[in-house]
Amino acid sequence: MTIGIDDLPIRDELRGKSPYGAPQLDVPVRLNTNENPYPLPEPLVERIAERVREAARTLNRYPDRDAVELRTELASYLTRTTGHEVGLANVWAANGSNEVIQQLLQTFAGPGRIAMGFEPSYSMHGLISRGTGTGWISGPRRDDFRIDAVSAAQAIDRHRPDVVFITSPNNPTGTAVDADTVVTLYDAAQAAKPSLVIVDEAYVEFSHRASLLPLIEGRPNLVVSRTMSKAFGAAGLRLGYLAAHPAVVDAVQLVRLPYHLSAVTQATALAALEHTDTLLGYVEQLKAERDRLVAELRATGYEVTESDANFVQFGRFEDAHTVWQRILDHGVLVRDNGVPGWLRVTAGTPEENDAFLDAVRALKKEQSS
Ligand SMILES: Cc1ncc(COP(=O)(O)O)c(C=O)c1O
Repeated sequence: MTIGIDDLPIRDELRGKSPYGAPQLDVPVRLNTNENPYPLPEPLVERIAERVREAARTLNRYPDRDAVELRTELASYLTRTTGHEVGLANVWAANGSNEVIQQLLQTFAGPGRIAMGFEPSYSMHGLISRGTGTGWISGPRRDDFRIDAVSAAQAIDRHRPDVVFITSPNNPTGTAVDADTVVTLYDAAQAAKPSLVIVDEAYVEFSHRASLLPLIEGRPNLVVSRTMSKAFGAAGLRLGYLAAHPAVVDAVQLVRLPYHLSAVTQATALAALEHTDTLLGYVEQLKAERDRLVAELRATGYEVTESDANFVQFGRFEDAHTVWQRILDHGVLVRDNGVPGWLRVTAGTPEENDAFLDAVRALKKEQSS
């Protein structure tokens, strides 16, 4: 007899649900998960090896539970790049920003509480909510995928969520959110009842706009989450972090697993932070490639959503999934996020982007012939 998930005594709300699953297909050009296409530079690989060798000598011991050296370096990176001074006490780190978000939901949401995001947005906000027993409300977005501050504030007022997600730049649309909108939504969230507002800035290094991080000043219920998976080109490292009032950092200690961040992870992240300037150099190249994708897609006759990230949403298609498959037939994997009429392509190397542009130009030609 074969036993499936539904034969097991799992939680009722997980029955019949699918796990997160961007396809990991073996194709020549993979532009589907918003990774940085550039491998880490060799001097950094060497430095990681050195730092990890050093850490290996004490792997018989648990790692620094509070990741003090790493959090201090992350704080100095944030201070340097945003002009807003943050210190060790403001910063917390975990295994990817997904774990940061999970710890925040475990602390501020959970059974009997609800979270709200403005969709389409990053699907893991809803999935991590479900995993932590938190209810999920999908808030409104305009047809151009921007957040309308008035209707979003009304939705907060109506549903009184315990946690509000604002993703800027937003995934999968690329849309950035301005500071006034964040302040309006924060005020609405505090008026309904004090609730936590998480600004997810996973892609902020690629943005035309400044970080929203300075808004944490005087707003103890505002958290900015960040990651080394995108701009730092270190998705395999699994290192995410947050900046907030020190009380928020104290609060997540209540749920974090002891020694959650391995000594190897801490050593690797510290090595990457030593090479910040080189890594951020790649960001400039990727921004230029993102802008080229936007211009070329428009010139080919596609609609494109304004992007502040390292990816571009393009359309419109009667049947986006069929187009996704046709692009894949050309050896290029893009992402169908389930937004009707639209697909998303990550900015890759110039050669990868050329392969993608050749594929979509060929499709346009086939359509018009
Ligand atoms: C908006 C957003 N937030 C967070 C993440 C998760 O990043 P991490 O690799 O740090 O868990 C992603 C990953 O794609 C994302 O798109």
